[in-house]
Amino acid sequence: MSEFKNSTPAEIFEIIDQHHRFFEKSIPLIASENLTSIAVRRCFISDLGHRYAEGKVGKRFYQGCYFIDGVEDAAIKITKEIFDVEHVNVQPISGVVANIAAFFALTKPGDTIMSMSVPCGGHISHDRISAAGIRGLKVVYYPFDNDVINIDVDETRKIALKEKPKVFVLGSSLILFPQPVKEISEIASEIEARVFYDASHVLGLIAGREFQAPLKEGADVLAGSTHKTFFGPQRAIILSKKELAKKIDTAVFPGVISNHHLNTLAGYVIAAMEMKEFGKAYARQIIRNAKRLAEEMKELGFNVIGERAGFTESHQVAVDVTEFGGGDPVAKKLEKINVILNKNLLPWDNISDSRNPSGIRIGVQEVTRIGMKEGEMERIAEIIYDAVSNRKGESQLRQEVYDLKKEFNMIKYTFEESPAYKFPDIC
Ligand SMILES: Cc1ncc(COP(=O)(O)O)c(C=O)c1O
Repeated sequence: MSEFKNSTPAEIFEIIDQHHRFFEKSIPLIASENLTSIAVRRCFISDLGHRYAEGKVGKRFYQGCYFIDGVEDAAIKITKEIFDVEHVNVQPISGVVANIAAFFALTKPGDTIMSMSVPCGGHISHDRISAAGIRGLKVVYYPFDNDVINIDVDETRKIALKEKPKVFVLGSSLILFPQPVKEISEIASEIEARVFYDASHVLGLIAGREFQAPLKEGADVLAGSTHKTFFGPQRAIILSKKELAKKIDTAVFPGVISNHHLNTLAGYVIAAMEMKEFGKAYARQIIRNAKRLAEEMKELGFNVIGERAGFTESHQVAVDVTEFGGGDPVAKKLEKINVILNKNLLPWDNISDSRNPSGIRIGVQEVTRIGMKEGEMERIAEIIYDAVSNRKGESQLRQEVYDLKKEFNMIKYTFEESPAYKFPDIC
C-alpha cells in the first residue's frame, strides 16, 4: 500500500501520479474495467458534477436544469438508437444500483428468482448476500453444464415448473458464451415470469452487435454497467419494453437514486457516440483477441476452460490454474511483473474456496482499447506462462511487460486519440 504521510493535497496528486505510472507500464486484464477517452474525462470536471436533477427531463424537482435536460435527453436518444429499444433509463449510478432497481420493479418481497450461482459466474448482486437479499427474494440456482460452461436448459425447465420463479436472471460476471435467453424466455412465458438480463460485462459487445441481443431474444429488461466492455464512465443503464417503463422509472427514482452524477452522465453520452461510431470494429477485435489469447494459452499447456465451445465468444478467457497453486498465488505472482488480473471461482469450485479459487479470469477489452491485436495476445500468453512456470525471473519479465506496453498507451476507438494513463490537459 502507498502510505499517506503529510496530509497535503500534493501528496494525493503524487499518489495518483504513481498510480498512472504503474498502469502505464502494466498490462491491464481485469475483465470489469476499461478506459475513458479524453472527451469523456473532460465532462468529469465540469460543473455538472456539482448539481442535482431529480425527476425526469422537463419535469425536475429542482430549478437550474435547463442545460442538464439537454444532456439527459441526448443520453436517452442515443441509447435508444444504439440498442434499438423502446424505453431507456440512464440514471442508475452503477450496475448494482440498476440491478436493485430492476428487482424492485419486477418482484415483491418473498418472490423466488432464478439466478446463476457465483462459482458458475453469477454476480453477488443476483444472490441473497446482496441486491436479491435486500429485496427479500428467495434464490434458486440454475443447473449448470460444466462441459459447455452454460445453463442446462432442460434441467432448468424442470426446476422452474416446480419453483415458479417470478424472474429469471441472466447475464454473468464470468461470461464466456451467449446464454440461452430465447429458451429461458419460452419457459418464463409458460409460468408468466419475467426475464432480466444483466449485461454489465457484455454491454459494449452488445452495442457493437457482436454478442447476443437479449431483448431481441425475449428478455424483458436489460441492465448493465457502462464501464466494462462499454468504455464509458462508471454508471449504468436500464433498457426495457415500453410496458415496463413506469415501473422501472419509479424503481430508479425515487426508488434507488436521488442525485444521478450528471458529470458522468455527460461523459456517458460521449462514450455512446464513440460506441456508435467505432463499436463494431472495437467489439469484433475484442472477440478476436480473446480467442487468440485462449488458443495460445492452450497451446502453451494451460487448462483453458470452455474448450468444447471454442473457449470464448466474449472479452473473457478463464483458466483453471490449480496446477500452479490456484488463482490467488497466480494473480499475486503476475501482479509482481505488472500483469494485472483477478483470481476467480470456477463452476466446480465451492463458494468457500473464494480466497484461493481454482481460476483466473482475463479480460481483453482494455488492452483492445489501447490498440493491441492478436500478435500482442500471443506475447501476453507467453509472459503469463513464463511467470507461472518460473521459466524466467521477475525482473526480466517486468522488463518484457514494459517493452510490450510502451507502444500501447494511447486510447483508440475514439474521435481524438489521447494518453491512457496521464492527467489530461483538460481546461
Ligand atoms: C454481472 C455484473 N453485474 C453487476 C456488476 C456490478 O457493477 P457495478 O460495479 O457497476 O455496480 C458486476 C461487476 O463487475 C457484474 O459483473
